[in-house]
Amino acid sequence: PGLDVLAKRAGLLYFGTAIDNVVLNNTAYVTIAHNRSEFGQVTPSNGLKWMYTEPSRNVFNYTMANEIIKPAIKAHQIRRCHTFVWHNQLPDWLTSKNYTKPELIGILENHIKHEARAYYDKCYAWDVVNEAFNDDGTLRDDLWLQTIGPEYIELAFRFARKYTSPWTRLYYNDYGIERVNNKSLALQKVVKDFVKRGVPIDGVGLQAHFTVGRAPSYNDTRSALNLFTKLGLETALTELDVRVDLPDTAAKQKTQADVYAASVKACVDEESCVGVTVWDFWDPVSWVPSTFPGYGNACLWDDALKRKPAYYAISDML
Ligand code: XIL
Repeated sequence: PGLDVLAKRAGLLYFGTAIDNVVLNNTAYVTIAHNRSEFGQVTPSNGLKWMYTEPSRNVFNYTMANEIIKPAIKAHQIRRCHTFVWHNQLPDWLTSKNYTKPELIGILENHIKHEARAYYDKCYAWDVVNEAFNDDGTLRDDLWLQTIGPEYIELAFRFARKYTSPWTRLYYNDYGIERVNNKSLALQKVVKDFVKRGVPIDGVGLQAHFTVGRAPSYNDTRSALNLFTKLGLETALTELDVRVDLPDTAAKQKTQADVYAASVKACVDEESCVGVTVWDFWDPVSWVPSTFPGYGNACLWDDALKRKPAYYAISDML
């Protein structure tokens, strides 16, 4: 049985993967990506980001996203949709002009309205806001904070609730919150306030981009998830990968396998955690080598499209 089959038996809702458009011409890759027994859930790595979905103001394009969402629907894989509001991968029209606060709020609502309606019944969850915090727990000094102020986060959730289906889970998603630290505690405080005031948030996604030798332990991840379990929220590991400082060795692959298995186990054991998504499953197409020079081999399948020790560590643990 594949990872999703095993994950479901262990009580998760899904084991999933991100898929990028650049590999869709590779049949061997696509066959695994949409193999329902390996992956019960799919996230488009890029296609639902602002620069692709609204490349010119009020002109919407879902070509890239649909190349991944449509086959996922056909294969009965649920979809996590990523992402409405982020500081990165924004179109030029948005970043190269100074909008006023009311203008930018209008732009935000219009963007969320169109995307949410286009995918009304197609997303199990939406990452409504992505990476809004700095590591020290302050808010990232980006376009949204500078022009709208801290309330942009709350506004995004309210707009998302207004236009998505009532059963779409609305998530806050970030990296570096897989331990109890300044960042996860600051987020917990904001989420707690949202819950108290009825701001519509359903879940928190821990991206879980880890590095061999520096990764959070099982206990770290469980405690971090528990910050949000305690608030009654759903949680998930949304972008799991474990990069290796190259050159790779058998010992590093073993450590990587342990990190993958411990991370998935933390989700299985934590009541609120519904599933684990890996941020692609094939080493050559991972975002890691181009983003972190000197690092690579972060995924479950190697260059030859063969399953790695990390794959078997997860499947043995489940
Ligand atoms: C990455 C994609 O994988 C890359 O292809 C793209 O060039 C940059 O973005 N956190 C996120 C994801 O929330 O959207 C990022 O995806 C990886 C880090």
